[in-house]
Amino acid sequence: MMWTTLIAGLILLSAIPSGLPRSVYDVEGRSKRSIDLNDVYYSKMRQFRLPNEVTATSYHLDIKIPSIEKNEFNGHVKINLTWSNTSDRITLNIHQNLEISKVGIRMIQLPPDEAKKGAPMEVNIARKERQRFKSWYIIHLEQMLKNGSACEVTITYYGNLTTNETTGLYKSAYMDITGQKHPFIATYLQLDNAQKMFPCMDEPPYKATFKLRVSYPAIQDFKACTNTPLISRRTIDNSIEEEFEETPKMSTNQLALVISDLETIFPREDVNEIEGRKLQVKIWGRKEFLMSLTKVPDKIVKIVNYLQNYFNSSLGLPKLDVMAIPMYSASKASDNWGLMFFKESELGSPLVWTTAYELFYQWIGQSVTPYRRNDAPVNKALNSYLASMATLDLNPDEMEGKWPMTVLYSLYYEFAQTAPFSRVAGIRHEATWTKAELVFRMFNYTFGHELFQKSVRNFFHQQSKEDRRTFYANDIFTYLNDLANETNNLPPGLTINGIAASWINRDRVPLVTVIRDYETRKINLSQKVYLRDVPPQSTAKVSYQWDIPIVMQAEDNLNFHNTKPTVWLRKELVPKNLTMSDITSKDNFIIVNPEEIGMFPVNYDSCNWKMLSQYLQGPNRERILPLTRAKLLHDAWNLAYAGELCFGIAMNMTLFLKQEKSHVVWEPVFTMIHHVGRRIEGLDVNFKFEAYIQSLLKPLYLELGENPQPDEPSWKTHMRGLMQNFLCRTGYEPCIKEARDQFKKWMIDEEPDKGNPVANKFLCPVFKWGTNEEWEFGLQRVINFPKTSLARKQNERTYLLKTLAGCPKDANKIEKLLQVSVLDQNENFTDADVQLIFSMLTGSATGYKTLFNFLQEHWYTVKERFQNKTYLWDGIINSATSSFNTHEGYDMVSQLYLDHQTEFESADAIIRKALRVIKQESIKWNEENVPVIDAWLKENLSKEDLEAIAAATSISTTAVPTTTD
Ligand SMILES: *[C@@H]1O[C@H](CO)[C@@H](O)[C@H](O)[C@H]1NC(C)=O
Ligand SMILES: *[C@@H]1O[C@H](CO)[C@@H](O)[C@H](O)[C@H]1NC(C)=O
Ligand SMILES: *[C@@H]1O[C@H](CO)[C@@H](O)[C@H](O)[C@H]1NC(C)=O
Ligand SMILES: *[C@@H]1O[C@H](CO)[C@@H](O)[C@H](O)[C@H]1NC(C)=O
Repeated sequence: MMWTTLIAGLILLSAIPSGLPRSVYDVEGRSKRSIDLNDVYYSKMRQFRLPNEVTATSYHLDIKIPSIEKNEFNGHVKINLTWSNTSDRITLNIHQNLEISKVGIRMIQLPPDEAKKGAPMEVNIARKERQRFKSWYIIHLEQMLKNGSACEVTITYYGNLTTNETTGLYKSAYMDITGQKHPFIATYLQLDNAQKMFPCMDEPPYKATFKLRVSYPAIQDFKACTNTPLISRRTIDNSIEEEFEETPKMSTNQLALVISDLETIFPREDVNEIEGRKLQVKIWGRKEFLMSLTKVPDKIVKIVNYLQNYFNSSLGLPKLDVMAIPMYSASKASDNWGLMFFKESELGSPLVWTTAYELFYQWIGQSVTPYRRNDAPVNKALNSYLASMATLDLNPDEMEGKWPMTVLYSLYYEFAQTAPFSRVAGIRHEATWTKAELVFRMFNYTFGHELFQKSVRNFFHQQSKEDRRTFYANDIFTYLNDLANETNNLPPGLTINGIAASWINRDRVPLVTVIRDYETRKINLSQKVYLRDVPPQSTAKVSYQWDIPIVMQAEDNLNFHNTKPTVWLRKELVPKNLTMSDITSKDNFIIVNPEEIGMFPVNYDSCNWKMLSQYLQGPNRERILPLTRAKLLHDAWNLAYAGELCFGIAMNMTLFLKQEKSHVVWEPVFTMIHHVGRRIEGLDVNFKFEAYIQSLLKPLYLELGENPQPDEPSWKTHMRGLMQNFLCRTGYEPCIKEARDQFKKWMIDEEPDKGNPVANKFLCPVFKWGTNEEWEFGLQRVINFPKTSLARKQNERTYLLKTLAGCPKDANKIEKLLQVSVLDQNENFTDADVQLIFSMLTGSATGYKTLFNFLQEHWYTVKERFQNKTYLWDGIINSATSSFNTHEGYDMVSQLYLDHQTEFESADAIIRKALRVIKQESIKWNEENVPVIDAWLKENLSKEDLEAIAAATSISTTAVPTTTD
């Protein structure tokens, strides 16, 4: 559903230890919107703004389609324009593919002073100018017209239906079961595509009314549908002519038209009456698809009723048509006022979120619209927040309790990086909107649902009353500000716009530290920028501050309905902290920022952490809600990772997981394990760590059962998958056995290169814990992978290669792979393959150590091989050196550097950086944390576990514990 699911994807893949490129991020976020945000950022919009002395007030548009086969259309448009300043020209947008055959003009109104004088109503065209580059069409007049004048311009033109893409007025077709083709005509006028259909002022702020008439051949049960209801339909000769009600004022890109043989279904119940009428709802789809849409009409009515009630207003039109457009996959989801287009699969889904999100746009986004395109992101954020709220109200199970945790935690991780978004820039925009969405959530909590709703209503009603019905991004916050101020809810000295700006405009979040003085009964609160990695010394310290709502709970008075801040930690504060009286006695813990009301982690004094950890292991733990339980654990763990908290305390906070059943709490645990696992990879403590995690996981895993039950909720399947993945990786026998059994099927296949019968998830366990023979078989499949085969995709091969390189725990497999791909120069391995192998080897100690030895041993051969391939040379140096995390490793790398100092060339900076990182980050981190973790584990692991580990580690360097054969 969101960009963040891709981060979850990363974790799932963590079975493959990785230097996984982050390009697995999918920038395609939630469904695209009318004013599409990615388009705004990624395409250079026309930079030419139309002059605004003369603006259109209404259009009468006639579109004639003489024949469906010919792809031509004829247009005739009358545009009424008014003068707000003296001008002798009219400038319109006309796409260069439209041919103009006739242009006329008549004066319809004189300015009042001239009218009084009885001046003649005369206007003539001097000349017409077409600027194809700008898509401008300029009508120069003989007369200079003054403010208050009005003219009607008439343009007759013709053009072709678009057939090679779905923009403007386009023609497409779908096939029915019998193979018969059903053509249809539809519009996609978003952004600035209206000028492909008719001459107009094609910019969102120029709103006008539209009166549409269409005529098309009378075949195939064709019907036309647009934003407003039909008012007349007649058949003349062999064509049908239909006329529609005039629209309210709207932007050109809100107009929509579909001519098709799609069929309709209706809801069983009416929409509630509002403003004296009932919205007419119709759902359209191709005949064969209607079966999949039967539940949709009632769902839409339910959501519309909710929205009407939320806004206390209709959507501003008498009807709403919702269409599943066939073959819509090529284009973006698109809504238009009163006529919404969906992809078939999207509309058919039983889920509420997407439909609600789309429907919110009928109010905010269509009925009232963002002024310019850069006001659209806040629109998106607000609707997205409101859609989540509506989903929680209408279909509570849909979010599985995970909202907003999944998006929020991804933001925490990204913003706590030394350089956020340095790897993938596109993500930044998605993240910014997500942040704004969470700011709305914060306001909804801190000012209360009622006040928030009232301010959204005020905003909507005021904007609807205005002639232009357009808003600026800031307006939404201003309405909340004014209402909060009016009702004395605004914290003194703060404004909503100011609070929002501090959260939205930065790619950082604060860390709030709460220190209780149990003697003086005071609480000290302070803020600083939250960072997880030690920043390189050279980077200047950022000193951002935020206005932070401090919502507090005390053990003796837990009440999660209370979401009002006790106090605001303000950004202007000097010094940067605040002292207040404690809210409870010293035997009770406090929780700050429960339910992630604000976007920030919280640290406490060790006493408070201790009380929290004990309570969470006790019988009343569920009195703290799951999202807050997750937060406490997640904060403790990541603060320890960041060096802000002792790891012993963080480990104590994991103890309650043995009893924890909520998937919401479990969900982030796997990422946490992964991060620490990467740090301690290759060290002895890792065996204890894995054993401890196994002991936490097993109770819930056994309860979930190994195999999915029919109709179980998706979180169960998801959790089971995550657990299996982890258990498998750490050598849980039932899992390895299953994987190898599956793999056997492939090994006995007579033509193993025709296809792979083994699910991807089984590959890593087999290559890790299986025999050399099994691994060798996998290698042969990569080497013999068919180069051209319709049945097999290259990404199958890539996955296989990734697991072959990244999973093994014995050096000889990796040596073999390097032998074949680098030394033998087997032609089946491309440079990209070799690069991939190097990067996969950074994920495990065996991997990078083997690569290091390989490099050392074959130094001159490798150097010569990669002589003209700098990136491979740099790649091998980087992968072979940068992941070490011990003194011993540091010494090996620095010896290599000494031995070959002058020979690194392009990779000189790389190895020097590796040495610095190993020393200043990895070793430092390990020296500070590993002894603590190790001591804690020794104390908390069972005796049997410790003995088993001791036995295993004594042989692990020579032989690998595989499952019994
Ligand atoms: C323009 O205004 C005139 C006078 O009010 C009206 O008769 C005509 O129908 C209008 N034309 C359009 C395109 O709205
Ligand atoms: C429409 O397409 C035809 C055939 O491709 C072409 O000859 C004609 O010029 C096009 N008309 C316009 C107005 O672009
Ligand atoms: C479709 O055709 C038009 C003009 O013939 C061209 O400008 C446009 O780039 C084409 N679009 C695609 C997706 O090929
Ligand atoms: C709150 O309202 C008062 C009285 O109308 C006004 O003077 C003040 O500027 C407002 N404050 C904010 C922050 O809007």
